Amino acid sequence: MNPCCRLTLALFLCYLSYCLPAAATAADIPEWEAANPIQPIPDPPLGIPGDKDLPSKLTDLKNPPTPQTVRLGRWLFFDERLSADNTVSCASCHRPENGFSEPTPVSTGIDGQKGGRKAPSFLNAAWAAKPNFFWDGRAGSLEEQAGGPIINPIEMGMKDHDAVVAKIRSIDGYAKYFDEAFGSKEINIDRITKAIADYERTRMSGNSAWDRWRAGDDDAVSDDVKKGHRLFFGNAFCNNCHKGPNFSDYDFHNLGVGWNAESMSHADEGRYAVTQKEDDKGKFRTPPLRDVSKRAPFMHDGSVANLTAVVKLYVKGGIPNPNLDRKVDQRYAEILDLNERQIKQLVAFMESLDGEGYQDVAPTAFPQ
Ligand code: HEC
Ligand code: HEC
Repeated sequence: MNPCCRLTLALFLCYLSYCLPAAATAADIPEWEAANPIQPIPDPPLGIPGDKDLPSKLTDLKNPPTPQTVRLGRWLFFDERLSADNTVSCASCHRPENGFSEPTPVSTGIDGQKGGRKAPSFLNAAWAAKPNFFWDGRAGSLEEQAGGPIINPIEMGMKDHDAVVAKIRSIDGYAKYFDEAFGSKEINIDRITKAIADYERTRMSGNSAWDRWRAGDDDAVSDDVKKGHRLFFGNAFCNNCHKGPNFSDYDFHNLGVGWNAESMSHADEGRYAVTQKEDDKGKFRTPPLRDVSKRAPFMHDGSVANLTAVVKLYVKGGIPNPNLDRKVDQRYAEILDLNERQIKQLVAFMESLDGEGYQDVAPTAFPQ
């Protein structure tokens, strides 16, 4: 290219990058676009692998998140118009300030209806060691999962997926962002759930005090945390099930939570609903533990008030029932035999897993 052309080109690019947006800002950019700007896909924070050692991390996906799908997904995630009566969004039950879970034992959907289970956190879900979503593993991907609550009569209560699609289509402002994210203005349920799932995938938590200590900062945590860490990965065997960067094997175990020890009956059959296998009754997926301190009460039914009470449940060997996992039964309890000080140390360790990188608030404006 000769110097003259180069200069012209440079001037033209300069015009594109400075003059055009400046001219467009006030007049053409809708208020909701300024409230939810395009942002780069964040890098995994300290403690969350960004390399090749785990499946289903962001970049391994055939169809990885883009800044455009994530922006669209962020709106959809927080938009109450995805529910039948415009009162409930995904974020009503998955609140950013509670690590995308909620501070109540079970969830409340449209018309104040209560479900039977606690809303789990999906932080670092892109790093799930196995594609087992929900407490019983009945969804195999975040996309499949996202389609569920919208049409669940006691969650968001839409009649069916066609009704959701029709509703989003009726909001003129959304078409532009489906075009931007997927290359055409077509709005369908696959695009809606893919965008929401991509937003979820970018909710990563790391760089906790514990991660910083592991990375060499000796002062990042207290002595109690260090001792709790040793117990968790040592004599208390917690990492038999709470393993990997997310502290979950994404597999199913029975601690007896929700069993009535006298009548030997269970309130929720758990994994059995998916497999119909007798010994899966009362098994639930191991919850990941990052940011766990933000989402008391605990367990699939929110029946355990705080982290101390959770550890005490292990200290007494779970709740007796025919399918109690042998990794947490009476014999385990005898070996475990933790004193109050050690219980405190385990709790301090879990509290040190509060991380950063996912925090968010609802956009202040939505496409109209
Ligand atoms: C009324 C409350 C409520 C609403 C609204 C809601 N959820 Fe949930 N969510 C739950 C509950 C409860 C569970 C656990 C259900 C179960 O395991 O059977 C759950 C489970 C999940 C999970 C599985 C997490 C995991 O690790 O297994 C994800 C992801 C999720 N919801 C995302 C969403 C999205 C996306 C939306 C909006 C489209 C949404 N939720 C709307 C309450 C809600
Ligand atoms: C046999 C596997 C297994 C072992 C060992 C185990 N856990 Fe768990 N943990 C689970 C499962 C499964 C649940 C959910 C049970 C339910 O909801 O019914 C759970 C729940 C929890 C919760 C509640 C989290 C939430 O989001 O509700 C905490 C905290 C926890 N475990 C900490 C520990 C600690 C500390 C240890 C070691 C003393 C430990 N776990 C040992 C499987 C295990």
